[in-house]
Amino acid sequence: MEIIIQPDSQQASQIAARIVAKIVKEKPDAVLGFATGNTPLQLYKNLARMHREEGLDFGRVTTFNLDEYVGIPPVHPSSLHSYMWAHLFSQINIPRERINIPDSLATDIPALCRQYEQAIRSAGGIDAQVLGIGTNGHLGFNEPSSSLYSRTRIKTLTEETRLNNAAAFGGHDNVPLHVITMGLGTILDSRLCLLMAFGKKKAKAIALSAEGPVTAAVPGTVLQLHPRAIIILDKEAASELKMADYYTWVYEHKPSWQKY
Ligand code: PGA
Repeated sequence: MEIIIQPDSQQASQIAARIVAKIVKEKPDAVLGFATGNTPLQLYKNLARMHREEGLDFGRVTTFNLDEYVGIPPVHPSSLHSYMWAHLFSQINIPRERINIPDSLATDIPALCRQYEQAIRSAGGIDAQVLGIGTNGHLGFNEPSSSLYSRTRIKTLTEETRLNNAAAFGGHDNVPLHVITMGLGTILDSRLCLLMAFGKKKAKAIALSAEGPVTAAVPGTVLQLHPRAIIILDKEAASELKMADYYTWVYEHKPSWQKY
């Protein structure tokens, strides 16, 4: 794991955007995995700006989103489809047919999940997976106790996650109970994991994920098993890391060819 600590979320998001942009420039038909939530908003703003001002080309990129709420139509303002169109897809030149988000209205959910996994394989696997983390350590919607080898499937949200997402639905009671999410095994298969976390409320989940024992009780710990996981934090999210000074020292002494 590489842990990068920045003074604020803005600078952290700029680094994340440079990493994603580099992948797209080196491999114009890259496969990108995207996440939703508050955390990647500035990353998406940066990518949209890079497209607009620097000609960053998404014309041959394929995307797979981590998750979606079951039963919420794509046009619903709180769907993760709507989020992606509002914050990124409407602002870059990605062809609609290259965008993949789990179908929230699928009648046969197990079949949909198998097809989603197959689509990722057919696209050649995910080159870079953007991730946020829940206050309970979840990745995607893989809540605590998710198998570390799980694949795309239906999950039931914890009350903690439903409360954290209440604002988007105008109240906790309106937050769906069920979601479709890539599994932790699906996430592990991506060639690069790019986790971002900002704010004090993420500090515990980050400390446990990066420095605690690997356990299904904290899904974020699965990143310790990934050969290339980059964790980009602001100061607050990094505040409970025991080895924060070491991570900063390493980042400051990266060979120039390795810098982002
Ligand atoms: P957030 O959500 O980015 O809105 O904090 C992250 C998550 O729950 O995975």
